[in-house]
Amino acid sequence: MNTILEATKIWKYYKKKPALQGASLKMYKGEILGLLGPNGAGKTTLIKIMATLLTKDSGRVEILGYDLDKNPEEIRHILGYVGQDTERSAYARLTSKENLHFFGSLRGLDKETIDNKIGEFTEKFQFSEDILDKQFMHLSGGQKQAVVIMRAMLHDPPVLFLDEPTKGLDPIAASSIRRFLRDYVNKEGKSLLLTSHILHEVDELADRCTLINKGKTPVTGTPDELKSAVGAANFIDISDKNLSPSQIDEILQIPYVVSHTTFSNGVLWHRFGISDLFNGTKAILDFMEREAIEGGFKHHEVSLEDAFMHYIGEFKDEE
Ligand SMILES: Nc1ncnc2c1ncn2[C@@H]1O[C@H](COP(=O)(O)OP(=O)(O)OP(=O)(O)O)[C@@H](O)[C@H]1O
Ligand SMILES: [Mg+2]
Repeated sequence: MNTILEATKIWKYYKKKPALQGASLKMYKGEILGLLGPNGAGKTTLIKIMATLLTKDSGRVEILGYDLDKNPEEIRHILGYVGQDTERSAYARLTSKENLHFFGSLRGLDKETIDNKIGEFTEKFQFSEDILDKQFMHLSGGQKQAVVIMRAMLHDPPVLFLDEPTKGLDPIAASSIRRFLRDYVNKEGKSLLLTSHILHEVDELADRCTLINKGKTPVTGTPDELKSAVGAANFIDISDKNLSPSQIDEILQIPYVVSHTTFSNGVLWHRFGISDLFNGTKAILDFMEREAIEGGFKHHEVSLEDAFMHYIGEFKDEE
């Protein structure tokens, strides 16, 4: 695969506290890489460093063969960046169109090129003319986010960094942005790095994910690879009031049952990992019927959120 970006052993201190402790990641051409981590993990810090907006203390970043330390100008030219703060990414009193023209001209683009790009984007985002002529401050959250993404893409960058592109958006607006991004990567062979707290969104969008925690990046894999670390692809949940400890032991004796954990959502649930969806479910249901255990039964398919929680738990154990 064609490596388009490589960040190696990046360290960054804010005052004397480390925000990045040797974080590394790699991106390939034509992929969406998700950068996943809890609040304060170092996602924004890492993205800003790679976008030349923040200096690092040590480590190396190479994008399309350019070294960040030697060629920051070239790197700025091939990057599009959308930060976490949408409100401050455009002028409130300018219209969407005026904002795009202003930021496009800063990139050295002529009026015609900018108009063509605006035409192309507004079609893809299904923007109407009146949205383009509204002041930025009067747009909805989804419309603002779309304008800010357009701003980052005006100069047709091969690499795009998006720090939480769908935060605060309703499911329909978020899904329209996701569709746009998927298209952009698939049809135009661009590469995209994104952070998001909506894990099903990352699962749907990302080809690979790098996990980041306390400034370290210990795990990278496809969403399926990360999920496989949880141990089972399917789980049967049974609510606690229906189960005795000896019944739990008996369920664990069933050949297809591979794990047991508990969780609570107000009610305590037992979660059994099963190695075979059909046979495992059938065996547990048969057991429940034999023992006359009623209600409180759910199937759960492993999610990226499970993988995330699994790894975050593992990181904690290592400390
Ligand atoms: N300007 C700053 N001055 C001091 N500390 C900072 C600064 N910016 C970030 N930090 C600290 O660095 C760490 C990493 O912050 P960062 O914003 O990169 O995290 P993040 O993963 O983007 O979090 P979130 O998911 O909340 O956006 C945090 O502990 C944060 O408090
Ligand atoms: Mg952040």
